[in-house]
Amino acid sequence: MGVVETQGLGKRYAAGSVVALEDLTLDLGGGVTGLVGANGAGKSTLIKILLGLLRPTSGSARVLGHDITGAGPQIRQVVGYLPEHDCLPPDMRAIDFVVHMGRMSGLPAAAARERAADVLRHVGLAEERYRLMGTYSTGMKQRAKLAQALVHDPRLVMLDEPTNGLDPAARDDMLGLIRRIGHDFGIPVLVTSHLLGELERVSDHVVVLDAGHLLRSESTRSFLGDTGVLVVEVLEPAGHGSDAQARMGRALAGRGLVCRPRGTLLEIDPTTTAPDVLRDLVRDTAVDLGLGLVRLQAKTGQLEDVFREEAAR
Ligand SMILES: Nc1ncnc2c1ncn2[C@@H]1O[C@H](COP(=O)(O)OP(=O)(O)O)[C@@H](O)[C@H]1O
Ligand SMILES: [Mg+2]
Repeated sequence: MGVVETQGLGKRYAAGSVVALEDLTLDLGGGVTGLVGANGAGKSTLIKILLGLLRPTSGSARVLGHDITGAGPQIRQVVGYLPEHDCLPPDMRAIDFVVHMGRMSGLPAAAARERAADVLRHVGLAEERYRLMGTYSTGMKQRAKLAQALVHDPRLVMLDEPTNGLDPAARDDMLGLIRRIGHDFGIPVLVTSHLLGELERVSDHVVVLDAGHLLRSESTRSFLGDTGVLVVEVLEPAGHGSDAQARMGRALAGRGLVCRPRGTLLEIDPTTTAPDVLRDLVRDTAVDLGLGLVRLQAKTGQLEDVFREEAAR
């Protein structure tokens, strides 16, 4: 059974004039799934549909085997949800709020108190849990939102832009927490971000949405895999000019390779030459020119490339 399965899912707003999702068919499994796309791509709409909070205009979906039409309450009982927007009562202490959310999900009072203290410690709010949430920084608010999403031991968590508004250090902490939820605790995670490159490091699988359409749904490994392009960096020996890159480029072209400068690097297009033969050729070319070979490595892909490729079509 898939964790999330959708079939031809579509959603229109404003009497059909705004297309938020179109013909979306997905089959998502365990681990961390990153759902990425620019603002307005339809990420939050998809999450709300999967929680049974919004009705799709067309298509169908199942979450942990439950049909979203009719089984919304059952889905929300077993799914933890971190909403995109601020939803924390400012005049409540985090501990009371998270206990309350645990009780709402059916935990007995003592269990809710115990679990709330555990999850608040886990997200790094051990000390601050007795403070009113209105006094929290954005980073602390995101952590409190994460704690309430975890308090009832969910079988799946959906996190809508959990890194929004965080500084780089807080963002890294949040990404670390997400990775631990998905990998150490084994709870499947569906997490969104409008920053395309951000989820690469923590996601096992990436779904890319563009204006409501599915661009890609694949394992992160295939995204970030070897592109076949070889990256080369050469240096003149000390004291000799600085046209190493241009000289190397001409010499490689003379040996039948297609290459182009990229910053201080040279990129060599994929060829039919065997990888080790190609690397030897590059090394020998540098030696022949009397250049120092600083770098010779395979270029791996990045999520941004997907958008660049689409834009170039
Ligand atoms: N309640 C609504 N009424 C009308 N249009 C909406 C509503 N909610 C979202 N939209 C539109 O639907 C599209 C997708 O929005 P959303 O799902 O919030 O995208 P994302 O979360 O990826 O930023 C956008 O064009 C947005 O303006
Ligand atoms: Mg959104």
